[in-house]
Amino acid sequence: MKSISIGICMLALAGTVHGADAGSPQANYMLHCSGCHGIDGSGSPGAGIPTMRNSLGHFLRVPDGRDFLVQVPGTSQSALPNGAVAELLNWILKEFSPDEIPRGAPRYSELEVAKLRSRPLDDVPAFRAEVVGQLKNIGVTIE
Ligand code: HEC
Repeated sequence: MKSISIGICMLALAGTVHGADAGSPQANYMLHCSGCHGIDGSGSPGAGIPTMRNSLGHFLRVPDGRDFLVQVPGTSQSALPNGAVAELLNWILKEFSPDEIPRGAPRYSELEVAKLRSRPLDDVPAFRAEVVGQLKNIGVTIE
């Protein structure tokens, strides 16, 4: 009997973790993103996970870059609902790349995230390269 109730408890816990919105953007980052991106957003560049630090805010300088931060699979395919994804991206940008956010850049909204999530990217590296090229054209270098 005891093991059954422990089993049910574990299921409930797993439901909380996978079923999405844990609450604060910081908690969601820890649960859904930090495993790959690191607690401090530094990623693992050698393993194909770019750093978010002092970099991510630059993406907001071009419309495709702004879209990319939502469309990249780690964001768009997370278990989080659209409103929580919007809050999470707003938090990540402020936390890891505040100085690169262009003046007056609007915050992500639930509606914007919903629209972009319905348009997945065919080729993630190619689209990122396109965005990096667009940024280079306006004098911003991203690795
Ligand atoms: C399983 C590992 C993994 C998880 C979990 C993950 N990501 Fe990622 N993320 C990647 C990889 C790998 C890339 C590089 C692009 C690609 O190949 O998708 C990336 C790229 C990104 C980028 C673009 C950064 C850049 O400079 O191009 C953003 C933004 C991002 N992820 C956000 C998130 C968010 C938000 C979460 C959590 C909801 C998350 N990721 C969870 C692996 C992950």
